[in-house]
Amino acid sequence: MTTSEQQVGIIMGSSSDSGIMEAAAQVLTEFGVGHEIRVISAHRSPKRMVEYASSAKARGLRVIIAGAGGAAHLPGMVASLTTLPVIGVPVPTKHLGGVDSLHSIVQMPSGVPVATMAIGGARNAGLFALRILALSDDRLAELLSQDQETLEQLAISQDAELQQRPVTE
Ligand code: RP5
Repeated sequence: MTTSEQQVGIIMGSSSDSGIMEAAAQVLTEFGVGHEIRVISAHRSPKRMVEYASSAKARGLRVIIAGAGGAAHLPGMVASLTTLPVIGVPVPTKHLGGVDSLHSIVQMPSGVPVATMAIGGARNAGLFALRILALSDDRLAELLSQDQETLEQLAISQDAELQQRPVTE
């Protein structure tokens, strides 16, 4: 998706990551926040990665969500090329389950931060981006507050349902 006011850039190392990364786009769409989705590979298209990261702020992006799997260097390299906040999403992998992606993304050297989500945690990446944007956007802050209330009600109704089940012993 592209809109005239893209505030969040969602990038991924390969189109094979899109099944996971779509969840970040979905939550941004739910909250009415413009975003773009691109395949930008640290290893296969490194020159495009440099161009994307170094021009992101000037193009009006305010947060970057970067997903990658395996030797997942994309979030960290992008963070080294911009002062925008970068949120990393470790994409699950076939052989190591995404622990490889997680370790590649989370172990950043001091001075170059990446906010690393759980393995496959693209929805939370979108929500985290929304929390950053909500610092200067009252509409978003209110919507996030409503979302928290919805989650609370869900947990309360789950508990109520559990209490109604017969005790077996
Ligand atoms: C990484 O390599 C990508 O982020 C992807 O998760 C992984 C495998 O890519 P494909 O071989 O499926 O294109 O760069």
